[in-house]
Amino acid sequence: MRLVSSGGLRHIAFIMDGNGRWAERRGLPRRFGHSHGASKFKEIVRYCGDIGIRYVTVYAFSTENWSRPEAEVDTIMGLLSDYLDDCEKTAEKDSLRMRFIGDLSRFDDGFRSRVKSLEARTSGYRNSLTVALNYGGRDEIVRACRELSESGREITEDSLGDALDTSGIPDPDLIVRTAGEMRLSNFLMWQSAYSELYFTDTLWPDMTPAEVDRAVADFFSRGRRFGGVKNIKDRSDG
Ligand code: FPP
Repeated sequence: MRLVSSGGLRHIAFIMDGNGRWAERRGLPRRFGHSHGASKFKEIVRYCGDIGIRYVTVYAFSTENWSRPEAEVDTIMGLLSDYLDDCEKTAEKDSLRMRFIGDLSRFDDGFRSRVKSLEARTSGYRNSLTVALNYGGRDEIVRACRELSESGREITEDSLGDALDTSGIPDPDLIVRTAGEMRLSNFLMWQSAYSELYFTDTLWPDMTPAEVDRAVADFFSRGRRFGGVKNIKDRSDG
């Protein structure tokens, strides 16, 4: 696949769905699906960087996911903690600007301070990976409105965009959801206003670079007009 970032595709966001079904279809406990999903996530993020995607965002844990059985929540939290360990070891080699969005107040001080220091340590890298944790699009908008109202600022599209967790990150050009469901499930509700959506039946642990290529090719076949009449190929970084 050619490098794509110059063609108007800077940001891909992934809804990594289907881990549980992948395991269940193999007669395995769901945790195996999540651990395969976590490995797949690393491979796909690397591939996106290789083909020139500058921004990647993943939906790792939603505000609703706490309602899963405690053992499953613990598995996912364990994988996230392992991932943080890896990032701390390989941040310079990976050369990725790490960001974490979502309401991190639900996590303990130790976890939050690790996240903050990783964000600070990687803030100079050009390519960026954003991990959504305890994230809900509606919750994010409510927190942003509350922040604006407490600081007495006027609510406009710009000020609200700045108050969101994703401030400074361009809106996703393409949102890819695996495992067959065709909905956004409270992911990037504000930011997805003009995103192209790509749905595949592939379960997340079976995701491949070839499937990313298909999503990218599909993206480039669409006419993006942003409410206007012309196909707008590229927009500035803002
Ligand atoms: C959806 O599959 C997936 C999740 C709720 C968790 C996503 C987590 C990972 C990929 C692993 C940890 C992530 C990182 C960033 C290290 P599902 O369980 O809803 O699948 P199902 O719909 O088939 O049940």
